[in-house]
Amino acid sequence: MKIAVMGGDGFVGWPTALHLSDAGHDVHILDNLSRRWIDTELGVQSLTPMDSIQERTRIWHAETGRRIHFHLIDLARDYDLLKTWLNEHRPDAIIHFAEQRAAPYSMKSDRHKNYTVNNNVSATHNLLNALVEIGLDAHLVHLGTMGVYGYSTVGAAIPEGYLPVGIETVDGDIASQEILYPANPGSIYHMTKCLDQLLFQFYAKNDGLRVTDLHQGIVWGTHTAQTRLHPQLVNRFDYDGDYGTVLNRFLIQAAIDYPLTVHGTGGQTRAFIHIQDSVRCIEIALNNPPARGARVEIFNQMTETHRVRDLAQMISNITGADIAWLPNPRKEAPENDLIVRNEKFRGLGLAPTTLENGLLSEIVDVAKKFAYRVDRSRVPAVSAWTRDIARTLNRDPEGKMLKSVS
Ligand SMILES: NC(=O)c1ccc[n+]([C@@H]2O[C@H](COP(=O)([O-])OP(=O)(O)OC[C@H]3O[C@@H](n4cnc5c(N)ncnc54)[C@H](O)[C@@H]3O)[C@@H](O)[C@H]2O)c1
Repeated sequence: MKIAVMGGDGFVGWPTALHLSDAGHDVHILDNLSRRWIDTELGVQSLTPMDSIQERTRIWHAETGRRIHFHLIDLARDYDLLKTWLNEHRPDAIIHFAEQRAAPYSMKSDRHKNYTVNNNVSATHNLLNALVEIGLDAHLVHLGTMGVYGYSTVGAAIPEGYLPVGIETVDGDIASQEILYPANPGSIYHMTKCLDQLLFQFYAKNDGLRVTDLHQGIVWGTHTAQTRLHPQLVNRFDYDGDYGTVLNRFLIQAAIDYPLTVHGTGGQTRAFIHIQDSVRCIEIALNNPPARGARVEIFNQMTETHRVRDLAQMISNITGADIAWLPNPRKEAPENDLIVRNEKFRGLGLAPTTLENGLLSEIVDVAKKFAYRVDRSRVPAVSAWTRDIARTLNRDPEGKMLKSVS
């Protein structure tokens, strides 16, 4: 297949591009490199030293003889360029990672909220709009998030996208329907993923576009079989308070002897998936496209759920790290249960990599190897969800410490 990987320079996009190229597909990465600019804005860098995308693809060719092509295109702003590229290259499938994906970054300030909404919603809409305009029947696989369901305790398992409901009709009968599970975003970032869902529903219904939406859990780990092939193929590894995600952050905190940062009671339960499984799921989704005219295919792309304080305890037991109990900068339920259905990927052959598989210590080893690159002042998560929460943390809303008033 000819596959366009939008956002293929990122944490999940890069190993996906390598995996699909390794499997013999003709892979094209489209990326505006905004994630690298955000590193510069925040004054942080990936724990692992990343080369330029051109250098990464050169090394891939030298190692494997296979080519991955890179195209510098902004999906949100370069509509005409995107449309022209799609029309010329006419890929069989498109994987859409190209969004601003950090909830804390999306909540930093009004500017960051605007940027996240404009970037994510325009990127998705431009892509759908262009597919219709040029008459391209490519299968679109989008990376969404488990966060679209919200994190309130319901006492029932979360289905894969659609909820069966009965509605009482005017005649007193019960009409059965399957509706999108009610969206319940917990940040501006998550809200953009909820809006994406509606865009997909509309374009599948109106124009017969074939769309798969993957509601992904928090990705942990860093290596895949292909990123291990050469030091310069290494994946990015975010550890900072905005882009670092919970389990990877605990692992690096343990490696640099920094107390594990648990916010609130640590009673938040979240869904997880290892990076190698994330890449495999995307390949499985590519091989199982919906029919033209069918509704959007939705998979829950996660393999296990864990409570944050249990994760911290597990890492502490393995590494001896202390746990720091900190005020929560987010506005969220202090405790929640989470039961998630994920039979679809399991049924299509996914054999999950679980936390028990021993990969945790592998990541601690990576973290120790590159610990010299860590700026400890960038470890705390300080972007506050509201001005009131920022005040209780003695920070401005972007997370900068306020001078104390004497
Ligand atoms: N990492 C996770 O734990 C996780 C969990 C659930 C869902 N996801 C979703 O998976 C996708 C990929 O996540 P990631 O961790 O690889 O993120 P990432 O930030 O590392 O990668 C995203 C890539 O998209 C590019 N990009 C952003 N906006 C763009 C635009 N307008 N035009 C072109 N390129 C653009 C960035 O430069 C970057 O290379 C995201 O959509 C995210 O919401 C990630």
